[in-house]
Amino acid sequence: MEKELFVYFDGKFVEKSKAVVSVFDHGLLYGDGVFEGIRAYAGSVFRLDDHIERLYDSAKVIHLKIPISKHELSEAVVETLRKNHLKDAYIRLVVTRGEGDLGVDPDLCKEPTLFIIAEPMATALGPKDPKVVRTIISSVRRDSVEATSHEMKSLNYLNSIMAKIEANNAGVDDSILLDSRGLVSEASVTNVFLVRDRTVSTPSSAAGILHGVTRARLISLCSDLGLDVRERDVTPFELLTADEVFLSGTKSEIRAVGMIGGIKIGSGGVGPVTKRLYQEFSKLVLRPEEGTPIYVTKTVSA
Ligand SMILES: Cc1ncc(COP(=O)(O)O)c(C=O)c1O
Repeated sequence: MEKELFVYFDGKFVEKSKAVVSVFDHGLLYGDGVFEGIRAYAGSVFRLDDHIERLYDSAKVIHLKIPISKHELSEAVVETLRKNHLKDAYIRLVVTRGEGDLGVDPDLCKEPTLFIIAEPMATALGPKDPKVVRTIISSVRRDSVEATSHEMKSLNYLNSIMAKIEANNAGVDDSILLDSRGLVSEASVTNVFLVRDRTVSTPSSAAGILHGVTRARLISLCSDLGLDVRERDVTPFELLTADEVFLSGTKSEIRAVGMIGGIKIGSGGVGPVTKRLYQEFSKLVLRPEEGTPIYVTKTVSA
């Protein structure tokens, strides 16, 4: 029989089948909580510190006190991978408001619930070209920055789910959402980039985007490669007429956008800038300085 995965659950490791939350948990009842999706590559957790920072930032904004320190939480992530003997994995780190009553009042929730799931996941990065996806522009608008926007990575993903349903119904891979001003925001679970005349642009935080860890790393990679890169307002017209469009995210990594709403983007395949960034990013995720090692090898002195 296949061995069950262990889930870190409020300080203990429990088998997957026994890792259950209460029906009174406000994470379930109200989407009241925050989370992270993290990736481990070849025995190292990619940009773990960035994810931990973002989790604490999201929690701060919703007045949720994470019961352990950033250091302890990082250790718990690494320990979860070790416990499951994982080297290449997808990690889901969740903190909910915890058990309360049926009312919305978070003050009535006793203790936050904290769990970490780690599952094996092989990377799609490598020498081959990135996947090319077909998209539409969603009729669902990204929640604006004065609402509970995706700037905070909360457990409420209905906005993204509605956009994904629209993509499914249209028979395409994903939706790109506009913000309340009608400017480009992001895709359902990825950030958006466009390339025009070798200048790379991506919507700024005013568009209610999640401040993607992959996005941030790609912006600095562009600078390292001598590419002009800008965070700015992007109109749907600019997106449709770009030479290249690509998406970035921890789980999806980098994907080229071949089509938006039936309109071919560039060649409809993988453009040269996307390809270059993809190739460089494939190498970068394996660099020790980009991550936190899971299995620290002890050096034996002679
Ligand atoms: C709404 C949204 N935007 C963007 C991203 C990409 O962020 P990251 O690169 O940190 O995974 C995600 C990832 O889950 C997301 O959910």
